[in-house]
Amino acid sequence: MGLDRKDLLGIQDLSIDEIEEILTTAEHMEEILTRPIKKAPTLRGITVANLFFEPSTRTLNSFTLAEKRLSADSINLSAASSSVLKGETLLDTAKNIQAMEVDVMVVRHSMPGSPHFLAKRLKASVINAGDGCHEHPTQALLDIMTIKKNFPSFKDLKIAIIGDIKHSRVSRSLILGLKKMGAKITLCAPPTLLPLWLEPFGVEFEYSLEKTLPGKDILYILRIQKERQEESFLPSLREYIKNYSLTYEKLRKFASKEVLIMHPGPINRGIEIESRIADSEYSLVLNQVTSGVAVRMSILYLLTQRKLYGSKD
Ligand code: CP
Repeated sequence: MGLDRKDLLGIQDLSIDEIEEILTTAEHMEEILTRPIKKAPTLRGITVANLFFEPSTRTLNSFTLAEKRLSADSINLSAASSSVLKGETLLDTAKNIQAMEVDVMVVRHSMPGSPHFLAKRLKASVINAGDGCHEHPTQALLDIMTIKKNFPSFKDLKIAIIGDIKHSRVSRSLILGLKKMGAKITLCAPPTLLPLWLEPFGVEFEYSLEKTLPGKDILYILRIQKERQEESFLPSLREYIKNYSLTYEKLRKFASKEVLIMHPGPINRGIEIESRIADSEYSLVLNQVTSGVAVRMSILYLLTQRKLYGSKD
């Protein structure tokens, strides 16, 4: 009967049961995606607005496809094509969209907490599609689904997250999700990009890539988020590449032969990861993108059942 909540704003407030329910439903959604006609009438009558105030390739298009696959009506709004450019506030924009009988708003915004702000003030369900450096819950859920397909259990799975952890909403959601599932996480970055306030999350810290690589089941690589850095956190990009770029040579020298590679995209080839690895048989990067459609179909379905059939109470 769906999730007993109006909004999906972060991994922090999702229970393990809710995560499992999203993943199980996503597996059913994958079946729809294997049909010759990849469409089900499940969300007929539901209207979704995708409000993206930051650029996106994967999240926006997989939400749009998920909505189409389930027969929802949907509209897309970007900062560049909306009256935000004329000075309209985010709340006014959202209220005007809601006045068009929209049931769900998928929101990406550079301001941390903006989906939470809207969720408190709107009747429509709000899904966080990435808020600044804060959270990116649907990315973490599709990552967890991708990992589940490749490993029998999360218990004691050894995962290293490598790169610009400080500015990454993906890493924060992923750490929260993977810890709930029982995985062991090592964070690897230069000290300026590795915030020590993550210590209470029960993660290990490592500044050396060579020391991080051995014994890991998954290496999750992050790009340097130049657009969120108001000051310089690195002496030079050249030095970062020398010390932290995952090259084929380092992978073969230090990592396990069975290690799998993940990256949320967009990839900056030759900076955080060598093309030879991103395109190799170790890479799950495109599998992550494929999982994204099913996971977003699942979330849209589970959040709207409450609206269509009432809450569990
Ligand atoms: N992973 C991710 O959020 O990609 P986009 O920015 O392209 O949506």
